Amino acid sequence: MNWEELKKQCLVCDRCGLCETRTNVVFGDGVSDAEVLFVGEGPGQHEDEQGLPFVGRSGALLDNYLHAIDLDRRENVFIANIVKCRPPKNRDPLPEERAACLPWLREQFRLLRPKIVVCLGRIAAQQMIRPDFSVTREHGQFFDKDGVLFMGTFHPAALLRNPNNKPVAFEDFAALRDKIHEICDHTYQ
Ligand code: URA
Repeated sequence: MNWEELKKQCLVCDRCGLCETRTNVVFGDGVSDAEVLFVGEGPGQHEDEQGLPFVGRSGALLDNYLHAIDLDRRENVFIANIVKCRPPKNRDPLPEERAACLPWLREQFRLLRPKIVVCLGRIAAQQMIRPDFSVTREHGQFFDKDGVLFMGTFHPAALLRNPNNKPVAFEDFAALRDKIHEICDHTYQ
């Protein structure tokens, strides 16, 4: 399956109950040859309305962090979520919703073949790195899994709630920039 076919199928997904309450499936945003994949938790209200990830206040903050290290969703990264449809009232996605949705992310990962995956927040990091991953203790560290580097950092919404963590989050992005220079081929070209 190619990228366009995957997107077409994902946009009409009915694999879990979230399809009944969503407005739009949020497939993701960015370039399909990205070497760096960002993974959030799931769409909120604005994302559900627009069909795009991270377009609310936390999205503006994420874009600022990206731009600070010369990344841009229109140019050199892809942004996806663990679940593609908004959980009602922004509750955490249920285990069965994650399980139903994960094949979409796996297929995105298979087609993109990213060199680096950045997990935004606990839900993404625990799904992608380790079930007991602690963002507070382990943010900014790179974990090699079969030749792909995974890093967890603070969710932008958590940084809006607790701005004290913004400087350390920025250090994570600086470490990401260094790692991209080290191992990526075309992200900064
Ligand atoms: N929070 C997320 O985790 N993902 C989005 O797409 C928006 C907000």
